[in-house]
Amino acid sequence: MDEPIRILLGEDEIPRRWYNLIADLPVRPPPPLHPATRAPVTPDDLAGVFARELIAQEATQERWIPVPEEVRDAYRLLNRPTPLQRAVRLERYLRTPARIYFKREDLSPTGSHKANTAFPQAYYNAREGVEQLVTETGAGQWGTALALAARHFGVGCKVFMVRSSFEHKPYRRHVMRLYGADVSPSPGPETTFGRRLLEREPEHPGSLGVAISDALEYAVGSPTRRYALGSVLNHVLLHQSVIGLEVQQQFAKIDVVPDHIVGCVGGGSNFAGFAYPMLGETLRRGGEGPEFLAVEPTAVPSMTRGRYEYDFGDTAGRTPLLKMFTLGASFVPSPIHAGGLRYHGVAPSLSALVDAGRVRPLAVGQAESFEAGVLFARTEGIVPAPESAHAVRAAIDLALEAKRTGEAKVIAFNLSGHGLFDLAGYAEHLEGRLGVAAGTGTVVPA
Ligand SMILES: Cc1ncc(COP(=O)(O)O)c(C=O)c1O
Repeated sequence: MDEPIRILLGEDEIPRRWYNLIADLPVRPPPPLHPATRAPVTPDDLAGVFARELIAQEATQERWIPVPEEVRDAYRLLNRPTPLQRAVRLERYLRTPARIYFKREDLSPTGSHKANTAFPQAYYNAREGVEQLVTETGAGQWGTALALAARHFGVGCKVFMVRSSFEHKPYRRHVMRLYGADVSPSPGPETTFGRRLLEREPEHPGSLGVAISDALEYAVGSPTRRYALGSVLNHVLLHQSVIGLEVQQQFAKIDVVPDHIVGCVGGGSNFAGFAYPMLGETLRRGGEGPEFLAVEPTAVPSMTRGRYEYDFGDTAGRTPLLKMFTLGASFVPSPIHAGGLRYHGVAPSLSALVDAGRVRPLAVGQAESFEAGVLFARTEGIVPAPESAHAVRAAIDLALEAKRTGEAKVIAFNLSGHGLFDLAGYAEHLEGRLGVAAGTGTVVPA
């Protein structure tokens, strides 16, 4: 029989353990530092900010962390295990000998991979008696995921949404409210930091760094609240490993070994979730394995043009200092449509891997990524999120390179989300109205 287009797993094959790459890194990434004392952060420093179990997971060196049954059960609600799918129509269109596979994280009811960590975070907080989870969101994917997860486990949810998205992208705000979350624009009048910014600049558009400062200040303002973060930190990355662990099983089922592993990068949890289980295997084998390609927007070139140094995760300087590739905590990226990639820094573990040459960073322009998104929609029928379209672009370019060299390469990328709330961006692209940071706009040949 021909290989199936969708490689499926049964519900009993949802991973029972998350994978923690830190256990397999030859050199541990430098520790987070306290923002005031500059000493390595201790679990006590984070008490009152995050749930205790999440603080323990943040620091653990264990390779495997058990997935609680309640979370495995909730993963079913998220359509886990998600299919690994072959992009045969795209391959035919490109006339490439390469095989292209993509993981269907777009099938989550909240629209992206973000729910894979939102659910365990809400679970641990609920178990520890937390009454309200507080977070920030840019375009809204993370806020939507946390809103549903909090509802599922019976915890309240407060989301500070970057003001420009709050005003100009109302649909995700509506979905968060529909799930029961309280959504406020950031900067806003509820925090000292927000009030200060608005006094100086009443029309301040906000940024992810500002929204993190707002959410942190609000969260630590009451002992019944805790803060939740949707990327960058180790515990977030390890929850996302459920993606890559499924992919490993799926490739094993069809006896295929990938040559290229591709994911887009905002703070790094999407790339890490998809790639780290396979990267860990590569590290354990002494370096032999696929190429790992981390794709960022040219408008936010932290890995390709940033500095590898200690920096804050937020604008107000409240978070611990992380050693990471960064454009600077006050960097405000141009308003590209891939809102989930507009973050100034990259997860410390991913930064260390890029610095060591284990992961290849690549920057892709906005127009090039939308062009790839349109081609993917026209061939495969799925509208990728503008974030995911960056990975689609890189996968297409690898497939075209394979065509030039005549090699039957196997390319796998993570389709981290769907773009059905991002049609305004696609419309601007189709109508030739995309502005700054449009990239080089390479033409995809027929
Ligand atoms: C659809 C989608 N893909 C990828 C990303 C980037 O995720 P990460 O911050 O985990 O790198 C985001 C972030 O919001 C997203 O919404």
